[in-house]
Amino acid sequence: MNHYAEALSRLQKKPERWLITGVSGFIGSNLLEHLLKNNQFVIGLDNFSSGYQHNLDQVKTSVTTEQWHNFKFIEGDIRDLEACREACQSATYILHQAALGSVPRSIADPINTHANNISGFLNILVAARDASVNRLVYAASSSTYGDHPDLPKIEDKIGSPLSPYAVTKLVNELYAQVFANNYGFKSIGLRYFNVFGQRQDPNGAYAAVIPKWVAAMITGNPVVINGDGENSRDFCYIDNAVQANILAATTPEAAANQVYNVAVGERTSLNQLFKLIRTGLEIQYPHLINLKAIHQDFRAGDIKHSQADISKAKNLLGYDPKYRINEGLDMALQWYVKNLVS
Ligand SMILES: NC(=O)c1ccc[n+]([C@@H]2O[C@H](COP(=O)([O-])OP(=O)(O)OC[C@H]3O[C@@H](n4cnc5c(N)ncnc54)[C@H](O)[C@@H]3O)[C@@H](O)[C@H]2O)c1
Repeated sequence: MNHYAEALSRLQKKPERWLITGVSGFIGSNLLEHLLKNNQFVIGLDNFSSGYQHNLDQVKTSVTTEQWHNFKFIEGDIRDLEACREACQSATYILHQAALGSVPRSIADPINTHANNISGFLNILVAARDASVNRLVYAASSSTYGDHPDLPKIEDKIGSPLSPYAVTKLVNELYAQVFANNYGFKSIGLRYFNVFGQRQDPNGAYAAVIPKWVAAMITGNPVVINGDGENSRDFCYIDNAVQANILAATTPEAAANQVYNVAVGERTSLNQLFKLIRTGLEIQYPHLINLKAIHQDFRAGDIKHSQADISKAKNLLGYDPKYRINEGLDMALQWYVKNLVS
């Protein structure tokens, strides 16, 4: 049995109590679905700033009634320390996803990004420490590599942040380390690289590239590529990120108080991504065969290339990403076709 299967089997025998912050968002709702399907007890905290009730409703339909009864939702804000204390009360593990995502949003609104991503994170740390939570696993980000030129990215070689968002994610890592040193509090940061999959929001100015393009193709709108399309990213299917979270929460203490890349370890350019999505949708939407992307300027704050070295997560957490981009896209496209048109 591999590490992940062993972790799930242990959890099924002895269910634990989890807090997911940002539970109604993309990654949070997928974590919820997986944990409930494995008969865990889950508390969810969210203020619906970029998450949706319909994400929670969809999880409800994918689990049994009994599993759904193991979930308690608190509508609240991580900027409110009392809400964090209430949510942390009986949790063994926290999977902290709540934050304002998006580099361009942070450039447009650094104050709100700071308040949610840094002050909110500090509240969760304090509440988790005071409630003696066993471990906090938090959403860090590949944006922390900033302007460091090396590829693939290795955890201990970071450059200067290129956006307010990247600053906030770096500060999270610094606070987590300071809480380990001063209070012995255990945490693990997962530096996600372009996670994608079901329930990732296709709407709004700050939508991520995959859902944005899929929605544009399905609804017959133009697909815009920022730059020449040779920018590249390490696209990571959501189930790989879920696996990393569960391993990080349950791995022995020796692997705690560190950060790990969560990705596949491969690189896909935006031009390649465009073709993969177009081909994936062509069966249902044959008119896409002639679709061409429109190119605009590069976006401020964006890094040119991103690719992770995932050996640290493999070696210390037993992380073994099951889905490469094509396999993940197959599943994500099926979900968007069903959910965007119905
Ligand atoms: N999706 C990616 O590729 C990616 C990459 C790197 C890092 N991340 C990080 O992963 C986490 C989850 O991202 P996601 O893609 O699921 O985004 P998302 O926007 O779908 O989810 C974030 C959730 O947090 C909630 N939230 C935001 N501020 C809150 C607050 N003050 N109080 C309570 N809830 C709040 C939102 O309502 C939303 O439900 C974020 O921390 C993000 O920065 C994501």
